[in-house]
Amino acid sequence: MSEDNAVNLKTSPVTEVVDRTEWAQMMTDDEYYPFLIKKNLRPAIWRWQDVVERLDVVMKDPLRNADRRFIALVHGDTGEAGGVFPSIFLGIQAINPGEHIVAHRHNSYALYHIMQGEGYSILDGKRFDWKRGDTFACPPMASHEHINTGTEPAIQYVIQDMPARAMERNLIWEEPMGHVFHAVEGNRPHQP
Ligand SMILES: [Fe+2]
Repeated sequence: MSEDNAVNLKTSPVTEVVDRTEWAQMMTDDEYYPFLIKKNLRPAIWRWQDVVERLDVVMKDPLRNADRRFIALVHGDTGEAGGVFPSIFLGIQAINPGEHIVAHRHNSYALYHIMQGEGYSILDGKRFDWKRGDTFACPPMASHEHINTGTEPAIQYVIQDMPARAMERNLIWEEPMGHVFHAVEGNRPHQP
């Protein structure tokens, strides 16, 4: 490619020409390995009785736009990651009778175990009926929605790699479908 062609290339608008960034740092191995070694996590337990107490309150809330009824079990030792482990989200999700969690998708996977109730989910256009004891897996970027068809609240035990995606700053969310968000500060998937 000639230089003439290079300068005539159509590019995005440039607001700044960058030489160095002070946050581009370097470490020797003597510095890096101690930095890399993290304090271990303490064993932790969440009592079902305590979870239910919190979930009961959330279940009485009027459901907001794209909102959910779940309690995230967050291990305090995971710091900024905010997971049950640093890379894993564990949530107990309730869906009241007749409720519908509308179609959306994200690049975190989701694993569901049904603890109570019955209903169905539509994963990438395929219907999966479920009831107590069933487990189903929703792969990354598969659209999914959940409907409670029973007479009691449906309770789902949900595992996702959402904190890992968030820590990498590559959590991508599409909700409602057609509305894509890069989930970083200032660009949240939805506001309560
Ligand atoms: Fe989801």
